[in-house]
Amino acid sequence: IAASDFYIQVKEIDKRASGQAFEVILGTPTPDAKGEFPLSPPKKKDLSLEEIQRKLEAAEERRKSHEAEVLKHLAEKREHEKEVQRKAMEENNNFSKIAEEKLNQKMEANKENKEALQAAMSEKFKEKDKKLEEVRAKKETKEGGAEN
Ligand SMILES: *[C@@H]1O[C@H](CO)[C@@H](O)[C@H](O)[C@H]1NC(C)=O
Repeated sequence: IAASDFYIQVKEIDKRASGQAFEVILGTPTPDAKGEFPLSPPKKKDLSLEEIQRKLEAAEERRKSHEAEVLKHLAEKREHEKEVQRKAMEENNNFSKIAEEKLNQKMEANKENKEALQAAMSEKFKEKDKKLEEVRAKKETKEGGAEN
């Protein structure tokens, strides 16, 4: 196949809508279909190689830009997901912290109650002991007096 056998066809699609869309068809003539080529012969021979190059470059630019857009979008989505996760973890941490604080407060309060109760009981026992001691002392004094 000689280089001249290749054909390039640049079809502009929907020019009014975007002003940019087009399609580049690069191919070689099929041996079987020689003579009756549905897509050839290209009628737009007036398109220079430079123009074709420009259009290809523009298409590449658009492809790259679209790819960058998609990547950016994905990165943003990931960032958002991370943020949501971070917030959920923070909420969970906060919840745990609050629960722990409440429990500590409760235990502290229980401990204080217990200590107060123990102190009160201890005080009562002391009083009882004192009274018993007094009673015993009186008894001893009385008995001692009676003996003398
Ligand atoms: C977690 O607690 C911190 C400090 O108490 C507070 O600034 C933050 O807003 C809380 N975060 C959530 C998600 O509740």
